[in-house]
Amino acid sequence: MSTPVANVVTIVTGAASGIGAACVRRLAERGDTVVGVDLAAEVDGRVRALGGALGVIADVSTSVACDAAVAQAVERFGRVDHVVSAAGIECNAPAHEMDDDTWSLVQRVNVDGSFFMARAVGRHLIAAGRPGSVVLLGSINSAMAMPGQVAYASSKGAVLQLGRGLAVDWGRHGIRVNVVGPGVIDTPLNARSFADPARIGYYAGRAPLGRHGEPSEVASVVAFLTSTDASYVTGAFVAVDGGWLAGEVPPSRREY
Ligand SMILES: NC(=O)c1ccc[n+]([C@@H]2O[C@H](COP(=O)([O-])OP(=O)(O)OC[C@H]3O[C@@H](n4cnc5c(N)ncnc54)[C@H](O)[C@@H]3O)[C@@H](O)[C@H]2O)c1
Repeated sequence: MSTPVANVVTIVTGAASGIGAACVRRLAERGDTVVGVDLAAEVDGRVRALGGALGVIADVSTSVACDAAVAQAVERFGRVDHVVSAAGIECNAPAHEMDDDTWSLVQRVNVDGSFFMARAVGRHLIAAGRPGSVVLLGSINSAMAMPGQVAYASSKGAVLQLGRGLAVDWGRHGIRVNVVGPGVIDTPLNARSFADPARIGYYAGRAPLGRHGEPSEVASVVAFLTSTDASYVTGAFVAVDGGWLAGEVPPSRREY
């Protein structure tokens, strides 16, 4: 466990579910004052049940909502130090069947939402003259594509470059920005896959570690990246994927 720093305020988006909820729990256990942000009406109750301090209903695809959520956290707790951008959506459709609205929505939530929230926190930190950090949720799809995932993979590729761009812009302000790339993690986002034994069996076998991941295994990496233990880490892409991007171990060759 990293060294706790007194009075650290961390915003987590996508806080009502999956990886975001696991981050709320983990960072609150460490001692951060955690403000969760989500579209879901029940976000305040969920965040408090996980040990967080406050849940704010907001749509991250709107810059006004992101600015207001950060302003609310600052007004209530005096400061913001870190933001973890875990709000995200996926869609499954081959490129030739993708309609304009679905394409735009995926980019707006995953890319615009990550940028708007990071920008709001970055502006606050730069104005206050304090260091801080941003963690964006990319994906293994930041670096590779799967069938039916053209909108999602495009958005996650953009998130990877967004993280690098922010890291380069904000390094001189002491603001670190990193991108985490989960593999297949057991969350509601993947409910359809987890309901299909053949598909989830394939995913597990495809990862060299031979299993899917748990949200807490992503949250522990987020905790590291938002801690002083990662004080010289910025602009990095950290895969949390059981080795998926390292290569493939076909089941027939497991014994070699
Ligand atoms: N689960 C995986 O296998 C996996 C793999 C790679 C990357 N990721 C990424 O991790 C992040 C979290 O995914 P998850 O699996 O926990 O998903 P999830 O569906 O369990 O949770 C996502 C949360 O984001 C919220 N959200 C959606 N749109 C929003 C908006 N416009 N404004 C505010 N909140 C919004 C939802 O209400 C939900 O609570 C996403 O960015 C996802 O792309 C997940």
